[in-house]
Order: sequence, then C-alpha cells, then structure tokens
Amino acid sequence: MPLAILPMLVPDAAGLARAAEILRDGGLVAFPTETVYGLGADARNDRAVAGIYAAKGRPSFNPLIVHLPDVAAARRYVTFDARAQALASAFWPGALTLVLPLCADSGISTLVTAGLTTLAVRIPAHPVAQSLLRAFGGPVAAPSANPSGRISPTTAAHVIAGLSGRIDAVVDGGPCGLGLESTIIGLDGPATILRAGGIPAEAIVARLGTPLLMPQDDPALPRAPGQLASHYAPQGTVRLNATTVEPGETLLGFGPVEAPLNLSPSADLTEAAANLFGHLHRLDGMGANRIAVSPIPDHGLGRGINDRLKRAAAPRS
Ligand code: TXA
Ligand code: MG
Repeated sequence: MPLAILPMLVPDAAGLARAAEILRDGGLVAFPTETVYGLGADARNDRAVAGIYAAKGRPSFNPLIVHLPDVAAARRYVTFDARAQALASAFWPGALTLVLPLCADSGISTLVTAGLTTLAVRIPAHPVAQSLLRAFGGPVAAPSANPSGRISPTTAAHVIAGLSGRIDAVVDGGPCGLGLESTIIGLDGPATILRAGGIPAEAIVARLGTPLLMPQDDPALPRAPGQLASHYAPQGTVRLNATTVEPGETLLGFGPVEAPLNLSPSADLTEAAANLFGHLHRLDGMGANRIAVSPIPDHGLGRGINDRLKRAAAPRS
C-alpha cells in the first residue's frame, strides 16, 4: 500500500529522466549508492534542501554531503590540495567523502553546509547514482534516506518503510553492495577521520603516507556535527560484545555462533558490512526488543561496523 503514495522508479532512461525532473522541480528523490540509499535534492535550492531536513526530521545544524559525478564537477564547489587530489584519485568514485574548503560563490545552499566554510563532497560509484547525477547535471545534497536517528536504508523497501508519503520518489537499484556509509575525511586542516565507513582507515593512511587524527579517540578534536550519540537505532535495545545470550535476547551473530541472524558466519567483515543495516531492519520486523551482538574485530570495515553498532546501542533521548 505505501507504493501508491511513493512512486518507485525503475532506473531505465525514462525513470532516470523523471527522477532528474523531480530534482529540477525542487523535489526529493531517494536513489541507490554503493553505500546506502541517499535522499537527494538540488543542493542549490534552499526550499528543496529544507525539504530533506523536514522529511528526515533532521536537526538543522547537521550539514549534508553533496554528490557529484566526477572530480571536474567537484572543483566548481571546493578546492583540492595535494592530499585531497591523492585521495580523490585513489578512492573516487567510491565510498569516500572529503570535507574541503568551500569555494566563494559556490551557489550551494547554506542549509547544506549548516553555515560552515567547508563542504562535504562525494563521487559515488553506483551506476544508477552516476546516471542520475549526469541526467540532473547539478550538485545533489543527499543524506542517508532514513528518518533521523533510525537505521540507514540499503534497499528501496527500507526507504519506503521509513519515508513513504514524505518524499516524491525512490529509484530502485536493488540492494546496496557495501552497506556502510562513506568514510568521511576532513582536510580543512590536519587530515582527520570524521566518520569510519566503507573505505578502511588503514587504506587512507597508506595513501596519505601520514597518520590520521581520530576524533573518536580524543574528545578535544572536531568531529562531524551529525555524529549524534544515538543513531542507527533499531526498535529494540542493543547490547554489544555479547559472548553469551541472556533470556529474552535475540542474538545478532558474527562468526561461527548459533544465531537467528548472523552478519557473517565465516567472520568476513565485507559480508558483515553488507548485511548490517538489513539485519537490523529484519530484527525490527521480528519484533526483537533486546538485541545482543557478537564481538566484531575493530579493524578494516570492522571499525565502521562497530561505530554504527555503538550508536545503535547508545542511550536514546
Ligand atoms: O555513504 C554516505 O555517505 C551516504 C550516501 C547517501 O552518500 N550519505 C550519508 O549522509 O551518510 P549523512 O547525512 O547520513 O551523513 C553525513 C555526515 C554527517 O555526520 C555530517 O555531519 C557530516 O557528514 N558532514 C557533512 N558536511 C560536513 C562538514 N562540512 N564538516 C564536517 N562534517 C560534515
Ligand atoms: Mg545518516
């Protein structure tokens, strides 16, 4: 029944043309990326961007990532130093967001930057995202397409479950391959990891040749303003690093443990990242009200997975 309210577009030429037209008219379109589904609006249109905040119920101090088809397009909005150039050529298109100095007269809505002098930019690799960005021909502001604080969407059905009736359309590109949001690197100063994500920090350090500042290890360092303590929350409570299951708990397993849902029985972090949000959505569907999660190694993609799980387990306001 939500389908009647929220048009699902097929990512063929006609569907993408319609999605681009909605964006040009100041509407909201959810679309697949390799990380999670994004909720897109024209980043130059204040009213359209305000619509993103309204649809998500998102605090307006939280800035948005601008999506562009290639580095040439990104150069119209932000300045690249040698470090940014190196990371862009190594990891774009892909699951990396760079926070860079905003150009004067960028035309980007101040609702996108929340008044900051920096802009977060990303070049997604997903072919549907690429086609939509090219069909639209402008900067697309897109947070994850979920109500603020809830689990990120990795399928069009997740988007519909969370936002039907509040947005104009969703382009269905099937399940997202990576399943974890982009890694965010701040380069407006010393290189800082603002959010662990789909590109492991180790790979970025190897490319930069210098260490990354890690704000999560040092409360004095700046962080991404959107990194609220409680986020990615399923309906049930979440207990981490569970090596036993208490009565009434549902285990979200990792590795060779017996569990109704397992992120990766073979303890593969890439598989676990791809399953993370889908399994949390499924636990909601099962009515799990106490979720225990197996320990997950804190390296590579595990860092991003543990970051999301810690926020899912955080006390809710
Ligand atoms: O994979 C992704 O990054 C997905 C897909 C749709 O691209 N997008 C996504 O967006 O996760 P969102 O809005 O859920 O998370 C964006 C994060 C927030 O924590 C926000 O505070 C941070 O990026 N951010 C955006 N602009 C920033 C800036 N100028 N400085 C620091 N952090 C910024
Ligand atoms: Mg999000």
